[in-house]
Amino acid sequence: MRFKIDSARYILFVIGVIVSFTFFLSLNMSRRQEMETLGQIAYRNYLESNLYSMSAGYFQWDEFKSSVENEDEVFINNSFSDILDEFPFITSIQLSEGYVEGFFEVSKIQNIIYSRFSIYDSDAVDKLEKIVVVEVDPEVILTTLYDNDTFYEIGQSDGEHQVNLIINEPLLNWGHFISIFMIGILFRVSGAFIYKQTIRNHYQLDGLKSILNLLSKKDFYTADHSEEVAELAISIARRLEFPRNYVAKLYAAGILHDIGKVGINDAILNKKGKLTQEEFAMIKEHPQLGYEIVSGFTGLEEVAIIVRQHHEKLDGTGYPNGLMKGEISSLAQILTVADIYSAVRSDRPYRAAFSEKEAFVLLREMPINQEVVDALENIVLEDD
Ligand SMILES: [Fe+2]
Repeated sequence: MRFKIDSARYILFVIGVIVSFTFFLSLNMSRRQEMETLGQIAYRNYLESNLYSMSAGYFQWDEFKSSVENEDEVFINNSFSDILDEFPFITSIQLSEGYVEGFFEVSKIQNIIYSRFSIYDSDAVDKLEKIVVVEVDPEVILTTLYDNDTFYEIGQSDGEHQVNLIINEPLLNWGHFISIFMIGILFRVSGAFIYKQTIRNHYQLDGLKSILNLLSKKDFYTADHSEEVAELAISIARRLEFPRNYVAKLYAAGILHDIGKVGINDAILNKKGKLTQEEFAMIKEHPQLGYEIVSGFTGLEEVAIIVRQHHEKLDGTGYPNGLMKGEISSLAQILTVADIYSAVRSDRPYRAAFSEKEAFVLLREMPINQEVVDALENIVLEDD
């Protein structure tokens, strides 16, 4: 068993690590892809809006057009140095022969990005035969938009250039690795806890069932009756919409409710005739004895209380403590109804079994929770 728990812990740790590693990796990969796409869009917008304002500011301008026509080198060079100052991503600028469709176009020639501009008058109507060619440095744009960890490569798409961003930092950093390790530990610890808890509950209830088995050897009625009471009690609890963990406690209490009878003399337990007052007083000790047995098991403290209260009545006439309605746990109140119903519906050495109708007449007269009796009656009627 020791080996099994240890290897289960190890496996749980590995599972925790794999799950969190995959989670962080896929999360960061999709985030990175998104950043790269957004980066491409941002780059393109930045480049195009700047080229557009360069075209509108300098190359759709009567003065510049006439300086080109008149070969006014001074004016042209002054304009070019203004442009180089204003747009740092332009690395060279010159006049050239050629024709450009529209205001400007961008192209890639041997890994260098060029933009070529038409030269217009101020109304953007008359176009010169000459053009302006500038060389673009994408790295300057990218360092304006991003930090140094971003790399790029220039690709071609539909005849136009595009920049593919490569974000140059590891997908997982130290923080992620520490989180992954911690999640592994968390899986290991919580898994081992749940595993132990399950094992413990399993063996504890099994242990108690074997004590119950012992009881069935001395009290023939109890073993079958316990199972039946437990089943009946949980159907009532489910109908009254009790939460699942309450139902589980009630089931254990149902199985164990008469376990205290192991401490009662066999002769009294199996006596066929009427019990004397003294003998009945001894029988009445079984809820408290049961409580003492069950409460010794860790995790069954609440079950033990239900066991102790299963013969209490709402008006204080029950035993062992003569509790009143508000003092009796609602699960014990259910168990009481199930216990009485199961008892009167079975044959006993000193009387025959009650009919359904007779049983409910009796339950209706007793100081027990009548809402629970209603629920039981509905269940019984549905079963018919
Ligand atoms: Fe009992």
